[in-house]
Amino acid sequence: MAAVVTGIGGYLPPSAVTNDDLSRTLDTTDEWIRTRTGIRERRVVSEGLSTGELAVRAGARALSSAGLSGVDALVVATTSPERLCPAVAPEVASRLGLGTIAAFDLTSACSGFLYGLATAAGLIESGTADTVLFVGSEAFTTLVNPADRATAPIFGDGAGAVVLRRGQPDEPGALGPFDLGSDGALADLLAIPAGGSRQRSASGGLGHTSVPTEDWYLRMEGRALYTQAVERMTQSAQTVLKRADWSVADVDWFVGHQANIRIVAAVAEELEVPEERVAVNIDRVGNTLSASVPLLLNDYAARGDLKAGQRVLLSAFGAGLSWGSTVLVWPEISAEPVD
Ligand code: COA
Repeated sequence: MAAVVTGIGGYLPPSAVTNDDLSRTLDTTDEWIRTRTGIRERRVVSEGLSTGELAVRAGARALSSAGLSGVDALVVATTSPERLCPAVAPEVASRLGLGTIAAFDLTSACSGFLYGLATAAGLIESGTADTVLFVGSEAFTTLVNPADRATAPIFGDGAGAVVLRRGQPDEPGALGPFDLGSDGALADLLAIPAGGSRQRSASGGLGHTSVPTEDWYLRMEGRALYTQAVERMTQSAQTVLKRADWSVADVDWFVGHQANIRIVAAVAEELEVPEERVAVNIDRVGNTLSASVPLLLNDYAARGDLKAGQRVLLSAFGAGLSWGSTVLVWPEISAEPVD
């Protein structure tokens, strides 16, 4: 038995922020952002759009792609939850008309899509669910300091979703073996210090007005992360290729987490995947964390570049630190452009 991808969908908030827009309030330039990150613009949530709303819209599209109006379980991967409590997944399930199904959130930053896929596949393989809707949804720009030129240009908002169903390991869409890993000793390389139980208990409970504003926002050690990202994604991708008994020459598309064009290119070079088989959309969306990989798959599938029968290598890396990879043969499914 295997978990098989049977539907895909994505959603981007309509509001686009260009590098020139950012350079009006930040000490930065379009040229710096483009050459260092590959990003030209990113989408951001505006009033009325939040992690849950993005998830509902992407989830509805994935269900429609799968031709389903119901599933047995819903998993939402997000590192920009609407609230600390409760998880957003039950509300998303309710708003999608999915009833009282199993629904929960999962947090694994930019590797959230890979961790979530493995978890959703596990629900199917354990016999807990026959069908699962899995959404990566992020309104992470709300957690980034708009005055910090090191982080503000990098992130964008959006959601991507897949529907998984029970099937056979040898059919197109079947998720291959996974490689997942973490290194919590390096947790502080990418972290938001305030807002959780550590800071609340240290500051004597609620009403902690002494917490500096910047502690509510993301802190990032860009250089160290860059090195870790290239190393971990490369190792993880190599591990999963070996487990799947695929060679690099078998890979039609390398679909790597869109953290930075230079990271994606460096991983591809290490793996020896030629440039023309590397999927990229960071220029238009930035780093959308757990939505990154499904939005990229949706983009390429919707415009016909990713075709049924092609072999795909997925790999991601993010805060935690955490990383993951898997492989699949792309199935015959419909995909709509996100906008
Ligand atoms: N505009 C202009 N200059 C900027 C800038 C910006 N937006 N951000 C930083 N700089 C400056 C720095 O202050 C520094 O100036 P200095 O040399 O005078 O000190 C200079 O540019 C170089 O900064 P540095 O951080 O060393 O640049 P970099 O080449 O490492 O690129 C990142 C920075 C963030 C693009 C890169 O490190 C990166 O992508 N890291 C990974 C981040 C990531 O992917 N995070 C998510 C993980 S999933």
